[in-house]
Amino acid sequence: MTEASEGLTSSTDTDDANPLQRLSLGRLRQRTSMKWRTYPEDVLPLWVAEMDVPLAEPVARAVTDAIALGDTGYPAGTEYAEALAEFARKRWDWDGLAVRRTAIVPDVMLGVVEMLKLVSGPGDPVVVNSPVYPPFYQFVRHMGRPVLEAPLGPDGRIDFISLEGAFGRAARGASRNTGRPAYLLCSPHNPTGTVHTAEELTRAARLARAYGLRVVADEIHAPLVSGDTTFVPYLSVPGGENGLSLMSASKGWNLAGLKAALAIAGPAAADDLARLPEEVSHGPSHLGVIAHTAALRDGGDWLDAVLSGLDDNRRLLARLLAEYLPAVRYAPAPGTYLAWLDCRELGIGDDPADVFLRRGRVALSSGRHFGSGGAGFVRLNLATSPDLITEAVLRMTAAVADTAH
Ligand SMILES: Cc1ncc(COP(=O)(O)O)c(C=O)c1O
Repeated sequence: MTEASEGLTSSTDTDDANPLQRLSLGRLRQRTSMKWRTYPEDVLPLWVAEMDVPLAEPVARAVTDAIALGDTGYPAGTEYAEALAEFARKRWDWDGLAVRRTAIVPDVMLGVVEMLKLVSGPGDPVVVNSPVYPPFYQFVRHMGRPVLEAPLGPDGRIDFISLEGAFGRAARGASRNTGRPAYLLCSPHNPTGTVHTAEELTRAARLARAYGLRVVADEIHAPLVSGDTTFVPYLSVPGGENGLSLMSASKGWNLAGLKAALAIAGPAAADDLARLPEEVSHGPSHLGVIAHTAALRDGGDWLDAVLSGLDDNRRLLARLLAEYLPAVRYAPAPGTYLAWLDCRELGIGDDPADVFLRRGRVALSSGRHFGSGGAGFVRLNLATSPDLITEAVLRMTAAVADTAH
């Protein structure tokens, strides 16, 4: 056990105002979700996008009230969309989210699949900005669409030369039957945490129109943007009117187990969304809709406390890496709670996550699964306590020290 881990064994929770500091390791290990059950007990898990937080109080109350009432039937109404529209007005100064142009979907990735079905056909290429969230490859390929990569630049931002090249290839490669290529945008970007600017999104929209690509924007990380940076909804930029977006409270409030998300159409995509088959609306759970609605409506203070904790964690990680692992490159970014670490100078090969796991007993996401540009990188989940981040870096350091001998 390393030095830092000695302070982590207590099972008592604290009443710290920072939700990321509230749960002890002992308590977290009682969880049965993927983050905590995939690896053995001696592995510290900082991989999959779950947060080490207790449920936000307004969400816990809404779900508990529903359980007490036996309110566990089918979802009804538009409260989720109304709560998101209000959140969007307050947080992003965007009043273009029209409730009538929304639909509930089971979760964001199934929503992405359904939106791509609406705007593209089998065989039509889908452009993504690599490195990117691995299901973008798996889900899209599984629906019979080839994935074309437009790699991000070294600064983690959209590279417009590579984007235009990919759009050109997508337009040429579109299936003869349907000829409808698409661009699956990740905004903010997982894994780099990049928050695309209004200028970048406008430029992407203009290019997409010029090459005849429809845009589906996965905006699940939108609430998780820190500090002075403001998230810009894709549908709010000029040229974004025929886009489709997927949003959810899932990442911001750690609700992946309470399934519900929203598909949102721009004004010029309303007819497409209207073609969404009835069956899709049967997927989201009523408890999920209740939880997500409460999060967006009443969970703002809690989210702010998380965002401030994440800012601290980014600074902490940068400091620890500079001290213990200076060969690892990390550029803190304002979006998501994910840190994208360039480990290529460590000289431990293309899959550093494997070395960190085997030798350091710390689980990070392997960059190799994120497509081109992922080899030699790992993704570390910062949505945990400073103690666990410190412990993770110490374990990574020990793993590399062992390798050198
Ligand atoms: C970019 C992105 N999209 C979608 C998801 C998954 O969302 P859902 O569980 O709602 O499908 C994640 C989860 O981490 C994600 O990072």
